[in-house]
Amino acid sequence: MNLGDQVVLTARRPDGLRDRQAASYRPTQWHSATRRQRWAVETMAVAPGDLVLEIGSGRGVAVSLVAERLTTGKIVAIDRSATMARLTSEHNERHIRAGRVEVLCTGFESAEFPADHLTKIFTVNVNLFWLDAATQQIDRMRSALKPDGELFVFGERPRSASTMANLAATERALQAHGFDTVRKIVPHGRERLLTCVIGTVAH
Ligand SMILES: C[S@@+](CC[C@H](N)C(=O)[O-])C[C@H]1O[C@@H](n2cnc3c(N)ncnc32)[C@H](O)[C@@H]1O
Repeated sequence: MNLGDQVVLTARRPDGLRDRQAASYRPTQWHSATRRQRWAVETMAVAPGDLVLEIGSGRGVAVSLVAERLTTGKIVAIDRSATMARLTSEHNERHIRAGRVEVLCTGFESAEFPADHLTKIFTVNVNLFWLDAATQQIDRMRSALKPDGELFVFGERPRSASTMANLAATERALQAHGFDTVRKIVPHGRERLLTCVIGTVAH
């Protein structure tokens, strides 16, 4: 798992950590993960009535940030790891009780969603889009989105040629499956980038 994954456990109460946990707590990592998630949620401009799917929710940090913006809307968070699905649920208990969040332990490949239903689908640091198997999954995402829905593929990546190649491959994959795409990149410290490919259904 990547550097964001220990962060939420430590971010809640860094002062109260046991010695062993405190030894591995690095404020820069905490800052990196929360900034990644906040940038993602701000970039999506979540509206109160949005119906949102996050694929690969990890510990559920972005789910909380989205849920805080919803009133009539809802976010479904899926993660194929039982541990991560449980952590997403624990992190979002209040929102689940309020009916704004649903958490499912499943891979996107085996999940079923009604057609023309979702307003936004997003992933953060999930490598679904440049694998050969992605073709069928992108079609399924497209059909789950409403006609004006949007697909957001976020990443926190090193400044490197391979990051740019991944972004280009993601754009090509989305375009090949009926999306128009826009690319966003912001610096994240000296060596890293926050990236997003936004796909809107081409008409
Ligand atoms: C690198 S972690 C990123 C977690 C979180 N989005 C973040 O930015 O901190 C990737 C997560 O995606 C999940 N995942 C990967 N492929 C998936 C798939 N096809 N369907 C559902 N979850 C998936 C993994 O189990 C893991 O929890």
